[in-house]
Amino acid sequence: MSKICLCLTGKTLAHDLEIIEHYRKYIDLVELRVDCLDPDEGFLIRRFPGMAGLPVILTIRRERDGGRYTGTEGSRVSLLAEGLANAFTDRRRNFAYIDLEDYLNVPSLEDAARVFGTRIIRSYHNITGVDEDIVGKLNSLRHTGDEIVKVAVMPQSFADVVRVFRAAQQTPDLEKILVCMGSFGIPSRILAAHFGSKFSYTAATGEFIGAPGQLNPRTLAELYRFRQITEKTRIFGITGLPLTVTSSPAIFNTVFALENIDAVYVPFPADSVESFLELAERLNMPGASVTVPHKESIIPWLASVSDQVRNIGACNTIIYNREGWHGVNTDTAGFSASLLNFIGKKNLRGKKVSIIGAGGAAHAVAAEVHRLEGKALVLNRTEIRAKELASRYQFAWNMLNRTGIEHIQKYSDIIIQTTSVGMAPDNDADPLALYQFSGHEIVMDLIYEPVQTTLLRRASDAGCPTCNGSDMLIRQAELQYKYFIGREFPPQFIARIHSLVHENK
Ligand code: ATR
Repeated sequence: MSKICLCLTGKTLAHDLEIIEHYRKYIDLVELRVDCLDPDEGFLIRRFPGMAGLPVILTIRRERDGGRYTGTEGSRVSLLAEGLANAFTDRRRNFAYIDLEDYLNVPSLEDAARVFGTRIIRSYHNITGVDEDIVGKLNSLRHTGDEIVKVAVMPQSFADVVRVFRAAQQTPDLEKILVCMGSFGIPSRILAAHFGSKFSYTAATGEFIGAPGQLNPRTLAELYRFRQITEKTRIFGITGLPLTVTSSPAIFNTVFALENIDAVYVPFPADSVESFLELAERLNMPGASVTVPHKESIIPWLASVSDQVRNIGACNTIIYNREGWHGVNTDTAGFSASLLNFIGKKNLRGKKVSIIGAGGAAHAVAAEVHRLEGKALVLNRTEIRAKELASRYQFAWNMLNRTGIEHIQKYSDIIIQTTSVGMAPDNDADPLALYQFSGHEIVMDLIYEPVQTTLLRRASDAGCPTCNGSDMLIRQAELQYKYFIGREFPPQFIARIHSLVHENK
């Protein structure tokens, strides 16, 4: 079982102790990053483990390894020795671990550590990439047999993360800490147990982040239920890039916890569908959500797809079966259930609809508008894509410019915005800036962060009924849940999930 380690990067020991108190119930041990302390504080570190009341790693990280220490190597070694001096017989008052880099060869330090029961973490950091031979690195790091090896690398692609995972699988018996830093590496922090890593390093909110990509200990412990993750835990997740705006982990992990299901839902920010699928298979994932920009590009990698996915050319859910990955689309039904509920109708008969955009989301929307017997106009920045999408259903089409926007007047019962324009952080952007709402249009924006886009605000100010994408998101997640878990989304939690998605924003 892997443990949660809080990386302490305060300027004073007193501040670090406050941070420990704030997170105590979420953490198992801390790493005292002496390189972040004010120089005078260095003389006091020896007393820190006794005050912390939980195991402490002593680390003085140099700049070249991603830390803040700029002094000489001699004074760094003296500081490390200071941390080991005058050991107490009560081992809890000594440092539990000392982090010594692979290039640091000071036998007296190692001997002192061993005598006083301080375990050595032999570390290697690559802050610019991932080494070719990770297995070789892991196997050659130890100076002596009782050291814990630590390899922290900076993936430049998701394929790098997969290489690290393979290395973990090839060294099952090695006592190690394995960290993929940066945004690609987030799965390695949540799934530290699967990466064979003894600790997952975390950062306190508002503090200097000890290494890029560290999560907050509370998020790890509460949202991802890190301490309950074992080999048996079923892993689900979402892949996309950059994956910064997603409520899906909050939705699924909350329901898994409420339902007491031994499963975790992890964000996998991936630049390559192929690499993500390799990791998903190695992790025995039963299913996953797929989002921008992979909804279309994932299709050729799947063994089979539903008729709907084939039709609209976009897949947002994959499930693993005997033949391989099967792709379905829950955006479609999520969208129409949300729209019909909002307008209080069973279909779109007689309705004239404007669809803004012609990407993956617009394909799902257009298919549903057609199925529900509505008539539509597709407006898109790139004309050819508008034309291609509209022609499938004999819809009208035009460019998303002044002339195109004039046509909305003839399709103004319902306006559905499907592009990413106006999504956080570009909250001011408005794809229909040239359109004046009259107040009779029903306006739906599939974006859910911000809660009210500029477009929705203008529509609402003009008196239009408006609806954002959070209801659609939850409805499509309910359908995914059924694919993933094999039973209905528990209806008693729907209200709770709605408030959670709103709170998150
Ligand atoms: P999704 O799956 O979310 O629909 P997508 O398939 O990449 O993502 O489609 C993005 C949509 O947003 C497209 O309609 C795109 O217009 P183009 O087809 O011209 O690329 C639209 N879009 C993205 N950025 C835009 C911008 N700055 N202005 C106008 N439309 C934009």
